[in-house]
Amino acid sequence: MKLNDKTLYAPEYNIETLINIETNTAALVLGVCQDSSLVTCHFGAKLDNPRSYISSGIIAKGEELPKAISAFGGSEHNAIFRVTHVDKTLATELIYLSHLTAEIDENRTETVIELRDKIHNISVALHFLACKAEDIFECWTVITNKLAKNNVNNLAKNNEADSITLHNYASFELALSNLTADYYLTSFFGLWEREASMQEEKLCFGKKTLENNYGTWSSFGFNPAFILSTEGKSHEDFGEVISGAYAWTGSWKMDFNYNFNKLAHDREQRQLLTISASNQVIAADYQLALGESLTTPKFILNYSSQGTGQISRNFHRWCRQYSLRDGDTPRPIVLNSWEGAYFDFNETVLVNMMDGLAKMGGELFVLDDGWFGVNEFARDSIYSGLGDWQVNNTKLPNGLGFLIEQAKQRGLGFGLWFEPEMVSPHSQLFKQHPDWVIQQTDRDNILYRQQLVLDLSNPAVQAHVYQSVATVLAQYPDIAYIKWDCNRSFTNFGSQHLTKDKQSHLWYDYVQGLYSVYQRIEQNFPKVILQVCASGGGRIDFGALKHHHEFWASDNTDALQRVFIQWGLSHLYPAIACANHVSICPNHQTGRSLPLKFRFDVAMSGRLGLELNLSDLPEKSLQFVQGAVKSYKSIRHIVATGDLYRLLSPYKSDYAILSYLAAKEGVLILFAYKLKHLLGQLMPMVKLKGIDAAKTYLVKEINLHEQQQPHCRQNGMLMTGSDLLTRGVRLTLTEEYDSAVITFTEQNQLTKN
Ligand code: GLA
Repeated sequence: MKLNDKTLYAPEYNIETLINIETNTAALVLGVCQDSSLVTCHFGAKLDNPRSYISSGIIAKGEELPKAISAFGGSEHNAIFRVTHVDKTLATELIYLSHLTAEIDENRTETVIELRDKIHNISVALHFLACKAEDIFECWTVITNKLAKNNVNNLAKNNEADSITLHNYASFELALSNLTADYYLTSFFGLWEREASMQEEKLCFGKKTLENNYGTWSSFGFNPAFILSTEGKSHEDFGEVISGAYAWTGSWKMDFNYNFNKLAHDREQRQLLTISASNQVIAADYQLALGESLTTPKFILNYSSQGTGQISRNFHRWCRQYSLRDGDTPRPIVLNSWEGAYFDFNETVLVNMMDGLAKMGGELFVLDDGWFGVNEFARDSIYSGLGDWQVNNTKLPNGLGFLIEQAKQRGLGFGLWFEPEMVSPHSQLFKQHPDWVIQQTDRDNILYRQQLVLDLSNPAVQAHVYQSVATVLAQYPDIAYIKWDCNRSFTNFGSQHLTKDKQSHLWYDYVQGLYSVYQRIEQNFPKVILQVCASGGGRIDFGALKHHHEFWASDNTDALQRVFIQWGLSHLYPAIACANHVSICPNHQTGRSLPLKFRFDVAMSGRLGLELNLSDLPEKSLQFVQGAVKSYKSIRHIVATGDLYRLLSPYKSDYAILSYLAAKEGVLILFAYKLKHLLGQLMPMVKLKGIDAAKTYLVKEINLHEQQQPHCRQNGMLMTGSDLLTRGVRLTLTEEYDSAVITFTEQNQLTKN
């Protein structure tokens, strides 16, 4: 062992180079120290002068600044980067080599910082893509087992001739030191039919982990995102809040490690909170042969000095612009056949459903599960047919072409359900390719929903999965929409494609395989709208959204529970992508009956659709449905692209109130729902947010039943922005499940129209 001239606990950290990565209001400041280590100096509000801030003593002398990425070995124990080197040693000490910042466009810069181990020739490149206007930092890492010729500064003493094994490989580690002692963490938990429930807890010393090991699902258990308030409990409109989301459609883990910073020998209190996100789950070690790289998923970091409302608006704007397909194009009004027909349909049933939809003013008919599988493999239940993507000619003797034509004749688009990553044991595909499923061959297959998962780490399977969808799309170019489902997770973990020593690659390679299939679909069928569905909301993450237009928020269509599900999701994902369908009563999931208007008003706050057979609705309701679809069309572009302002939380009151503001158009749309009715209950005045105090607005309630009295006392009145902001409007929601949709339109916009 050699001793060098650096003591372990240096009295002062001499930062030679500052790397300041900025957005409009936030900054991540990293420092390169004299010993070439890279440390995190600051994450938070943008600094006027980072260098003087660092030297001003705010970061105390002698304080050990946290490493920007902690590697196991050297003096680090709690490492987010851990590797077994080719010589089987475990320690890594990452040192700075270089960095570069490039302007991508007016709004974005990308900074790449290259680090490497002191001994071994491993490169770790930290990437930060800063989106200025949205205060978002996309962070990811590329780890390379480098070839000897790429050695820099002759630092390598031991060129690797073989593979290394990555055990921990996070996308980024956010280190917040000595910021506060009052962190509050909000997470989004839930499972099938109860997605994105919110909980907020004080972070105490110790390690808190949010994770999901399902393999194919990213957002059951927990949605891969959090919101962290640094100043006590979070507030909608004020306070410093940091949020992170993991863009990955598979298993993941987020660690919140809150403790005394290491080696705090002096009397000053030091505290360090590190937050890391990785796809490194149980048994997910990854080998890199010489010259190979692994790119981690993106960790999307979001900053607000004005509460969680701003966090949501940042995510929504960024997602629409950079991480959602056609993020500014309002989506069609869909009727999906599942709850209206399940597997029990024929051509007449489907054409009747189309008739109903067309009469109501809907725009696109989607045929859900049950249209495929031939002869004994017909998909008439969950027991057969997955994998056999040929039309069932018994049920649909005239084929898909006939249905598409029927839709066209009624002025409707046509969409189709697929679950292409799956196979039923009772199917032609399974008989032909039993080796394509995820399983350990010497163990029994474990069925879930009577199906198995195809092994997407295998390029032959990727090609097949792509072909199953592409063949149908190529044959029927008028198919406008695909609902891409995924109804089970990994069990009996094993791949017959991966070699024995690389079985643990499955977690990562499966998702990369899935993304490559999505990309091919996207490239070759760019006009087809893609919905991501996974038993409802099992795949709601920014990685999936990048390849889709929308997500199915939940199989739970009960409007009351949907208020909570949509509320949770609204913190992260934009309304344009949130598919909400009105279904029949009593609701098939909860058995609850709710007013038709309430069901529509709840669904209209995202992408409105229907999940029923309209002939199951009483005749007298149809007029309201027609009116509701019309009302929705008049506000859909504002809901789709406006800024969300949440006004009253269903978690904190008996109401839920939210609004979308399109400042340029001068319109705000408000949705109010009453969730519980008690006598003597106070309905607070509803004060708007975000509008211009100096302008005047016309208040107009829409989506009322014929002859129904408006709920808004100020309906039809002109009100000043200042009054609306400070005093608000009065709503009379006098019964349980009363609801209102109200538009506020700037006066000059009224004259323009
Ligand atoms: C899943 C989806 C549903 C429906 C069924 C069909 O549960 O979430 O919307 O498509 O599959 O089997």
